[in-house]
Amino acid sequence: MSDPQHVLAARVQAALGAAFGEPDADPVIRPSQFADFQANVALPLAKKLGRKPRDIATEIVARLDVSDVCEKVEISGPGFINLTLSAGWIAGQAEAMYGDERLAVEKTGAPQTTIVEYSSPNIAKEMHVGHLRTTIVGDAIARVLEFAGHHVIRDNHVGDWGTPYGMLIELLLDVGEGSEEAKLLETDPNAFYQSAREHFGSDPEFAQRSRERVVKLQAHDPDTIRHWERLVELSKIYLHKVYGRLGVTLTDDDIRGESFYDDMLGDIADELRAKGIAVISDGALCVFPPGFTGRDGDPLPVIIRKSDGGYNYSTSDLATIRYRVDKINVDRMIYVVGSQQALHFQMVFAVARMAGWLPEGVSAEHAQIGNVLGPDGKIFRTRSGKSIKLTELLDEAVERAGAAFDEVPHDEPFDEETRRQVVEAVGMGAVKYADLSTARGSEYVFDFDRMISFRGNTGPYLQYATARIRSIFRKGGLAPDEATGPIALGHDAERALALHLLGFGAAVHQTGETAEPHRLCAYLFELAAAYTTFYENCPVLKAPDEATKASRLALCALTLRTLVKGLELLGVATPERM
Ligand code: ARG
Repeated sequence: MSDPQHVLAARVQAALGAAFGEPDADPVIRPSQFADFQANVALPLAKKLGRKPRDIATEIVARLDVSDVCEKVEISGPGFINLTLSAGWIAGQAEAMYGDERLAVEKTGAPQTTIVEYSSPNIAKEMHVGHLRTTIVGDAIARVLEFAGHHVIRDNHVGDWGTPYGMLIELLLDVGEGSEEAKLLETDPNAFYQSAREHFGSDPEFAQRSRERVVKLQAHDPDTIRHWERLVELSKIYLHKVYGRLGVTLTDDDIRGESFYDDMLGDIADELRAKGIAVISDGALCVFPPGFTGRDGDPLPVIIRKSDGGYNYSTSDLATIRYRVDKINVDRMIYVVGSQQALHFQMVFAVARMAGWLPEGVSAEHAQIGNVLGPDGKIFRTRSGKSIKLTELLDEAVERAGAAFDEVPHDEPFDEETRRQVVEAVGMGAVKYADLSTARGSEYVFDFDRMISFRGNTGPYLQYATARIRSIFRKGGLAPDEATGPIALGHDAERALALHLLGFGAAVHQTGETAEPHRLCAYLFELAAAYTTFYENCPVLKAPDEATKASRLALCALTLRTLVKGLELLGVATPERM
């Protein structure tokens, strides 16, 4: 364990146990302005015990054994315990981190089978900036939890079933598989979808065929299923392209769409009915979970089966939950989906709990994703009002990244192919990091200039920071893993950098527990800032003596590895040279 906050917490807890028989009390360790950390437990504990906080603090300190960790322990104010770590301890921990492949990030002691459900676009329909964001954020959550030691199952819950597939199949049959129009499925599925809609609206015969096709699809007519499968296959080519370009870890094996659960829906309805949870209301089978009311105060229904006999989106989600709990034995489900669906998930989870399909020990979380807005503050669209074509958006990001890239100083010129690769990585890094660094539930305005800047909390800034560190090693004529240390912390900036490095594990675990990648972004950005201060104050290659140089090189190398690992967990590539 190298995270200072945890180490201090354990020590204070030991003292609390010895002094008051309260080993489980939260020691309330916080970063402090006056020392490295503060333990604030004396105040709540004094209240509980009816004594003076300062006396409590004094007793804690009397029992506190931190001689190997801290150089100073002081009581301040009403009873805060200020803890200042010793430089020797920090250096020792930093060295242990340097020597560890996992950068001292411990695997969790309580691994969970965790389903991270993300991306989940609607097949052959559209993938908009909203889906882009759930894809990027979900991928980071999956990577972080995996590294933290959990058993992660990625789940791409695509929309691939339901009424639109009737008209989509008919259009595919009309235009023919090899046609230019069918190619749209691979390049611009939204255009294909729009075209099907137009035919449906303007051609009654097409509309009639489409309706009949839906009936056949729902009856699993073999011929229709074959056409549907073909449609899905072609659409997957598009998904692969987008995922591949973004460096997202989703594969075909992770796709388990709505269609997968189709034959379980009847059972879901029957069981809810038999258990007396669902009732018929206006001809539809509904559940009214307690606590959900509409504007008029009337209870809100979850519609299980419509009056025409068709099942709903919610029914499919209920079947999904039951399957995951029964067949996969999941401990935790994280739904990375737009915040518009918040009520849907709350109600579905409530019904699943009522039905006993979602037991107490299993956690279901809607990791809400806020809207991506255009400069006008509305959902991001092109001027013509259509949603933005993803591939064009990514192309533009790369083009702009190229312009920004040419403006920052480079050690040596780039050949064209290397430049192209680096600029692609910068463009993707910029788009991804912008999605990740904003708290996931918050909306934000999509702004190329801001996200592609080499300054501020951006992907390019952090990528550039790693490349600058690598360039020090190139100039020094050694590889980053050839830095030997030992680490000694003389200058304040060295100490601050090392201390921040030790917080990496806590940042990773906290990001996984909360499913909030912006926390890891904030950590990395602060790390880059601590590094900059260090670099400005502490010459590395021109250090005053060999020992200092060796120590500083090790700090550089450790910072580099931490930044690269952190960005990798976010899915942001780090080019060697920039
Ligand atoms: N396909 C849906 C959409 O694009 C998202 C699916 C979310 N996941 C779920 N289990 N309902 O809006």
